[in-house]
Amino acid sequence: MSTVLEPSRTTFKAPKIRQTGLLIGGDFRSSVSGKTFETINPATEKKIADVAEGDAADIDLAVKAARKALTSGPWGRMDARDRGKLMNRLADLIEENLDEIAALETLDNGKPIRDSRAADIPLVIDCLRYYAGWADKLTGDTIPIRGNYFCYTRREPTGVVGQIIPWNFPALMVAWKWGPALAAGCTIVMKPAEQTPLSCLRLGELALEAGFPEGVINIVPGYGPTAGAALVKHPDVDKIAFTGEHRTAQIIMAEAAQTLKRITFELGGKSPNIVFADADIDAAVAGAEFGLFFNQGQCCCAGSRLFVEQSVHAEFVEKIVDRASQRKVGDPFDPATMQGPQVDQAQFDKIMSYIEKGKAAGAACVTGGNREGSKGYFVQPTVFDNVTDDMQIATDEIFGPVLSVLPFKSFDEVVQRANNTFYGLAAAVWTKDVKKAHRIANSVRAGTVWVNCYDVFDAAAPFGGFKMSGIGRELGEAALANYTELKTVTVALD
Ligand code: NAI
Ligand code: MG
Repeated sequence: MSTVLEPSRTTFKAPKIRQTGLLIGGDFRSSVSGKTFETINPATEKKIADVAEGDAADIDLAVKAARKALTSGPWGRMDARDRGKLMNRLADLIEENLDEIAALETLDNGKPIRDSRAADIPLVIDCLRYYAGWADKLTGDTIPIRGNYFCYTRREPTGVVGQIIPWNFPALMVAWKWGPALAAGCTIVMKPAEQTPLSCLRLGELALEAGFPEGVINIVPGYGPTAGAALVKHPDVDKIAFTGEHRTAQIIMAEAAQTLKRITFELGGKSPNIVFADADIDAAVAGAEFGLFFNQGQCCCAGSRLFVEQSVHAEFVEKIVDRASQRKVGDPFDPATMQGPQVDQAQFDKIMSYIEKGKAAGAACVTGGNREGSKGYFVQPTVFDNVTDDMQIATDEIFGPVLSVLPFKSFDEVVQRANNTFYGLAAAVWTKDVKKAHRIANSVRAGTVWVNCYDVFDAAAPFGGFKMSGIGRELGEAALANYTELKTVTVALD
């Protein structure tokens, strides 16, 4: 995911804000209440724009538009291959506007332009193209049941789906959610995160330009307990897909029980990154840096518990401190910047409080540990050494640039400690011993295990959590199951 920018491009500009309304039934409009909320530039703490604030009334309109598009619009009758064509057209339009959308993402979220241009937006395009290819490949089975019958299955769209996404990869989360839903023929009501609504609205505008019929994709920005909760409660929404904090998922699951909605969750983690003494240490150091500090540490799969075998611990810490302290923190529009601000004041405060907790618990803060500068939500890349399993910095998801190093002595010990968490999203192992690598891959209870690499994502490879890190899988063929209902048809032949 690293990038080389053209030498001629030394600065990138903030783009013009094109859409700040709700997208309902093919039009951008104000909210029923007329209310708006501010979206903030986390690098400057200044307002970017006022965005229409949806609540229950807007969600209801959006759900009605989505239902209408499914039952009486052209979408429900469209050939599967033509759905795929629309998705490819949307991917092409995003590609044509890549620089602008990447800049919008950097403005609203604070992530470095080098990441939004080389990782986020290219991955959006790739994901939509991958799922466009699935649209006409959702087949059923013929089943040899007893008696003279013809029995077959069909995979039909789940229906109107509510999708609630977070702020850490705003546009990419749109693609992960829209891709399988559109391929399956569902219609969508999406609620983007209140911190980062702008790229989602721009993608909605491009979807209209691509030719998606009105009501297929609806977007209602707003807050979780109002707009988000109304989507979860709505009796005419068939399914909720949610990415965010596990505590929010618990609220959603309890509420979804009232209407027995289908639910899929992609939640947090405290992922173990395990380095054995026989690893290529420099590669492991680079992987540990990328695995934690990428995206300001705001990754659900961040390798936040770095287990290092005792015999290489001192060398490893010296090297990771060296790399962490050299990371360029600052203006996210500067192409040399590796780390921008955290997304908002709340996340900044949460991270700073964990840094204080780490210091108070007696962990060794070997680099960073403070705010960076005095304006914007910047945090120094921080490494704590000699962290013990019971410290809060080792148990809780910090979601910031704070790495905990935990020394270990034996294979069995590290497996037990790696699994000693209610999370189970991802893990990584660094070793040259192929048997050891596979034994770790089989023993760690996590949805993804990387061997001698970190954060390798592909639209074709399923991603999701064991235990409290999620329910269901996103990406790959697996995600299509989240958006289809299986129907069995039995025909008497005599
Ligand atoms: P959150 O889970 O509250 O927010 C995620 C989305 O859910 C947003 O769109 C929000 O508006 C919506 N939401 C919030 N409450 C809701 C409710 N009652 N009903 C329906 N929708 C609701 O996460 P938040 O507060 O932004 O971040 C808190 C922590 O969660 C972070 O510090 C991090 O540890 C974790 N997190 C994990 C993410 C992941 O990728 N797994 C992404 C974002 C946050
Ligand atoms: Mg929250």
